[in-house]
Amino acid sequence: MTVTALVSAKSCGVTTSALAMTLSSTRPSLLAECDPAGGTLRAGFFQAQITAGTGLYHLAVAERAGEDALAQAFAGHLVRLDASGNRQVLPGLTDPAQAPALARTWPALAQVMRVLSDEGGYDVIIDAGRLALESGHLHSTLTPAPLLSGADLVLLVVRATDTSLALARHMTDPLRNELTDRGSGADALGVLLIEDGPRRAHEVAEALRLPVMAALPWEPDTAAYLAGASRTPRGLKKSGLLSSARNALGHLHAAASRRALHQQYPTAQPAPAVQPSPAALPVPAAPQVAGVLQRLGQGRVDPRV
Ligand SMILES: Nc1ncnc2c1ncn2[C@@H]1O[C@H](COP(=O)(O)OP(=O)(O)O)[C@@H](O)[C@H]1O
Ligand SMILES: [Mg+2]
Repeated sequence: MTVTALVSAKSCGVTTSALAMTLSSTRPSLLAECDPAGGTLRAGFFQAQITAGTGLYHLAVAERAGEDALAQAFAGHLVRLDASGNRQVLPGLTDPAQAPALARTWPALAQVMRVLSDEGGYDVIIDAGRLALESGHLHSTLTPAPLLSGADLVLLVVRATDTSLALARHMTDPLRNELTDRGSGADALGVLLIEDGPRRAHEVAEALRLPVMAALPWEPDTAAYLAGASRTPRGLKKSGLLSSARNALGHLHAAASRRALHQQYPTAQPAPAVQPSPAALPVPAAPQVAGVLQRLGQGRVDPRV
């Protein structure tokens, strides 16, 4: 399926959108909360029911012991969003000071995400948080750049306001450059528009010179529930936010499939001036990483039955 990473220039709905997409997916789904500034799901949606003993930070520790240890630890640090175990969350860091420890773990985690998507049929949604820059590039410890370059699609989440667009504009070139140099190409980049403001999709696309790949409505009641601030609202599954999130995943999957096809058969394209770097080519997953799927599959129930 699709690995989609969500990022922003300033807090504007990354976590809410990522959770809405994970909850509404019609396939097995995994939300990886990889915001280096720290996760909010633990205190928010999960209402402090998950201890610091579970989550992303422990994978950095496991990865130091080798890929097999990482694969084993990965499944053990997921939290189920439903009884069937078809929707799962990897809770994020409890302290931003933990972020530097993850710097060398991101590439291995990017591989795990690939295996889950390509071989396990998961919709993988990465909450990559708010971007940080250093000298015009993505910051090496405050942004999980390897997760972005390893994703099928990277969505810059913006609100439909001029302020949000003004802030997002500074992020488009660093993102394009990262995806060109180390990812699968700048066309992996698009916008997820949160419809809170007067700007329409075509205006957003024009302002940022990026396609608007998906949009979600502004829906405070559902968003408050997803932030753990209110009880389950009536008709949650049919809410505009979750229905749109489900449609958004469909559009994203179609966009990612079109890209993959285009990269496989680039017949109509003139030869690129710059050859893709070796890092942009798919790296076969280590067998230990592939073992993560087996561990994840244990106890999972088919969502269609
Ligand atoms: N679609 C939406 N409709 C209404 N409120 C939203 C929506 N998305 C996010 N919010 C609200 O915006 C605030 C920031 O959202 P959050 O997802 O935490 O942003 P980020 O992860 O980018 O920091 C929260 O109060 C959240 O409830
Ligand atoms: Mg967030």
